[in-house]
Amino acid sequence: MLPQARQEIEALFPRYEEKRGALLPAIYLVQAEKGYLDEQDARDLAELFDLEPVEVWEVLSFYNMFYTSPQGRHHVYVCSNLPCSLRGSRSLLKALEAHLGIRCGQTTPDGRITLGHEECLGSCGTAPMMRVDGEYVEDLDVAEAKRVVDSLE
Ligand code: FES
Repeated sequence: MLPQARQEIEALFPRYEEKRGALLPAIYLVQAEKGYLDEQDARDLAELFDLEPVEVWEVLSFYNMFYTSPQGRHHVYVCSNLPCSLRGSRSLLKALEAHLGIRCGQTTPDGRITLGHEECLGSCGTAPMMRVDGEYVEDLDVAEAKRVVDSLE
């Protein structure tokens, strides 16, 4: 963890009744710094928060918006819940795996795209859909999904 993140995290503490309340924003700050958190980051945060490293690791590994390994420059997450599945999201994900040459959960060798799947994103009416760098892309078919990932630098 860089000193800048440490300072920003310490500045969060007075805003919370208990120090521990600042843990989620602190994880965000560390992730913003280098894109993901590793075991050393968990140890650093544990020290700052007077917690055990495993307590920090439990929190950051619970939420899918936190990453515990290096990520691609772009995140492509295909919704895999029932309504999207019924409208073809599983075959769409397989098509993207083949198109990108990676499996779900992996990053392209050039570091361009991390591909994953997510539970329902609350946009079932426009299934199948995926989230690309936080933006929803809806009413997809395989051709459109490939066009979207190809447009990512
Ligand atoms: Fe995909 Fe709800 S199931 S958005």
